[in-house]
Amino acid sequence: MRVYLTGATGFVGSNVVRVLTERHGVELFCPVNRTPPPAGAPYDHAVVDLADPAAVAASVARVRPDAIVHTAIWNDFHGLYADRPRAWAAYVGATRNLVDAANAHDAHVTLVSTDWVFDGTQSGAREQTPPNPVNAYGFLKAASELVVTERARCGAVARISGVNGVHWARPQTPRMQDAGFGYLVASIADALRAGRRFRVWEDERLNSIATPTLASDAAELLWRVADGRHEGILHCCGGEAIDRRGLAELAVETFALDRELLDFGAPDWDALPDAPIPYDTSLDATETAAALGVALPDARTIVQRLRHELERHELSPQTATAGGTR
Ligand SMILES: NC(=O)c1ccc[n+]([C@@H]2O[C@H](COP(=O)([O-])OP(=O)(O)OC[C@H]3O[C@@H](n4cnc5c(N)ncnc54)[C@H](OP(=O)(O)O)[C@@H]3O)[C@@H](O)[C@H]2O)c1
Repeated sequence: MRVYLTGATGFVGSNVVRVLTERHGVELFCPVNRTPPPAGAPYDHAVVDLADPAAVAASVARVRPDAIVHTAIWNDFHGLYADRPRAWAAYVGATRNLVDAANAHDAHVTLVSTDWVFDGTQSGAREQTPPNPVNAYGFLKAASELVVTERARCGAVARISGVNGVHWARPQTPRMQDAGFGYLVASIADALRAGRRFRVWEDERLNSIATPTLASDAAELLWRVADGRHEGILHCCGGEAIDRRGLAELAVETFALDRELLDFGAPDWDALPDAPIPYDTSLDATETAAALGVALPDARTIVQRLRHELERHELSPQTATAGGTR
């Protein structure tokens, strides 16, 4: 199988690279932006401006993939407000260009999306719950989702959430807490292992409840979506919602860290965007799990497997499920 993967040098994309090549023998082509692939990356690449329809069409025509997996984003929360035309082109335009290219070659296309398409009151949102984004990022992702659901001949939206994992393309990058759940566990482990105190931010204006996802699990689910040519909206996340405090406590316990170094309190507002953040973005993924034939892991299992990946520098072993292994 040949896959055209965007965002391969990013956090989620680097997990897709490892899972697709190491577990599934996929032949990968990855259009890149500014960051060159790491040495020895197991894929061919070229610089492609995803916002340029002609460039995307020509690049995909050369590769002739069976599937396109679109993880790339312009990851600049402030920039999305400061330069709205660029933001629209980078999110909605790029998605449209990839969908059109997929259609031209009968390729399956998957857009990686987010739980932040919900407004923070839609607790336990299901795949068919209508999105109601409250900030520019959520709006642009929801608009991009519509491009796929309304325009792709064979396409899926794969929402992921609270992604914790290893950034395999840049494993040494410092990990920081933000308004969401991404990197929260590794940030706590890094700090406490270095003997530093860590204050877990708690405030109703933050993303306070979510469904953590191990990045490599998300990649495995993305593989199943593409390989099975699944269509529609899927929740490719973990199997349990949790709040920030609960996840932090699990991190301390699972990584055997010094609990005395953990605090809970007000966020550092200077480090956070001046925009609405959804409070409870927990997802219900029951329908997706059934469609993909998997049992989704609870939060404890996710944290245990993250520890394995951080310490062994390898993908965590797949666990058996009724539908096979994952
Ligand atoms: N991280 C989370 O917790 C989380 C949660 C929910 C959903 N998601 C979704 O997961 C996806 C990946 O997020 P991430 O955390 O992996 O982001 P990331 O680490 O910032 O990676 C973004 C990737 O996109 C690439 N990119 C940016 N602009 C591009 C362009 N114009 N053309 C081609 N490539 C471009 C970047 O390359 P350069 O560095 O070279 O620009 C990088 O490889 C996104 O769709 C996001 O919405 C993430």
